[in-house]
Amino acid sequence: MEALSPMEKQLLLLLKEKEGRAKPEEIEMELVKVMNAASWLQSKGLVRMEERLIKEYELTKEGERFLKEGLPEKILIAKYDGKSIEEIEKEMGKKEAAIAIGWAKRKGWCDILKRDGKKILVTTEKGKEEASREQEEEKALKSIKRGEAIEEEIASILKRREAIREKEKIERTIVLTDKGWEIVRKGITIEEEISQLTPEIIRSGEWKKKKFRKYDVKAFAPSIYPGKLHPLTQLIEKIRKIFAEMGFKEIKGSYIESCLWNMDALFIPQDHPARDMQDTFYCKKPSTFEIDDSLLKKIARVHEDGGETGSKGWGYRFDENEAKRALLRTHTTVNTIRYLANNPEPPAKVFSIERVFRRENIDSTHLPEFHQIEGIIYEKDANFGMLKGILKEFYSRMGFEKIRFRPSYFPYTEPSLEIEVEWRGKWIELGGAGIFRPEVALPFGIEEPVLAWGLGLERMAMILLGLNDIRMLYFSDIGWLRSLPLL
Ligand code: PHE
Repeated sequence: MEALSPMEKQLLLLLKEKEGRAKPEEIEMELVKVMNAASWLQSKGLVRMEERLIKEYELTKEGERFLKEGLPEKILIAKYDGKSIEEIEKEMGKKEAAIAIGWAKRKGWCDILKRDGKKILVTTEKGKEEASREQEEEKALKSIKRGEAIEEEIASILKRREAIREKEKIERTIVLTDKGWEIVRKGITIEEEISQLTPEIIRSGEWKKKKFRKYDVKAFAPSIYPGKLHPLTQLIEKIRKIFAEMGFKEIKGSYIESCLWNMDALFIPQDHPARDMQDTFYCKKPSTFEIDDSLLKKIARVHEDGGETGSKGWGYRFDENEAKRALLRTHTTVNTIRYLANNPEPPAKVFSIERVFRRENIDSTHLPEFHQIEGIIYEKDANFGMLKGILKEFYSRMGFEKIRFRPSYFPYTEPSLEIEVEWRGKWIELGGAGIFRPEVALPFGIEEPVLAWGLGLERMAMILLGLNDIRMLYFSDIGWLRSLPLL
């Protein structure tokens, strides 16, 4: 009771006067206020809205014309008795004449006779009498205009004459429920109360004298869906913020890369299974990149015999043409190695969150396009423990407390690890990390340890959003998007 607004109380009282049921228009209150109060009362179970679909008619243009000028058959009888059809058609227009004559004949108001080879209109007694009287059709048209109901029979004639059309309307009745009656019987008093505290009310001291309306925290409120960022974008923003707060700088790369930067510089052997057509999208245009010869030679040597890195290399013949091929980058580690090649002086802490491409079949956990969260810490005395620490910290800031590391292998890191999180009782792989090998670092003059990682964004999003299917992230399902809380 205390949670009712003055308007709701007023509506309850007015409904009581009307024996507990009334159409909104019958209530002596502004219609929007009635509807507003009624919907709140309905959510509180004090009134019920009965809705009935009713058929209504409205006049068409033709109907309006019939009303204004009279029915065509009436005009016909009044003006054209004894005239030839030819003449009538000339004056009324062919179409209108056909309508008028058709209805006049049907009603028995006229005959068509042949005289001197001409067809002549001759009105009957009935016609003369009726044509000066108001017709059923006209009465019905007037009723409709006044918003009154008409008989089915006449309605179907008028519909046939295209003078009216049907429209459906919902008729609402507001009905007091038992709970509503209970409250009404107990007695309702409307007193002025404060439902919104304003600076004026506080300043004037008015609040001391008046009653405050209680909040009904259980009251129904309509859902609203203001615009918001897509969950993946929200997630990217959040991750950006986390790395920025940990002192990292963001770097960006390009979707299209050369094999040299995407793979060779990372000491991925040229016959590595990941390079074949299964995993990598190679580009047609451009199909190759020009690459600086000394860079090519330098990387070639590392692959062939290790060059000056202290390694024996892979021991095969490096193919420079393979190195020049253009591809869609398969990982963002390419951003990192490019950055280090340009900035070989420690220290550095950089990250990127960007899209990568792989020839994967699409299913509930795989996408051919996804994002990686890539990063490095490049500084003197950096070590494997720090790498695990920074990853643990990152995932904990993302809300993952339970993660584990497993030994792993990447051609460009040693040691290497894999990060897994527990989800729905299973361990799921979220990314890889490690310390760059000398074969990767030394050719670019990188002499201190580089801690590097590459983490999947969509997998993580899937877990955070509780999705069963990773593809959901790329469907534009507006219902689902609306239902998501802000991350
Ligand atoms: N590039 C690896 C991948 O795509 C991840 C990785 C990055 C591993 C850096 C080690 C170091 O899975």
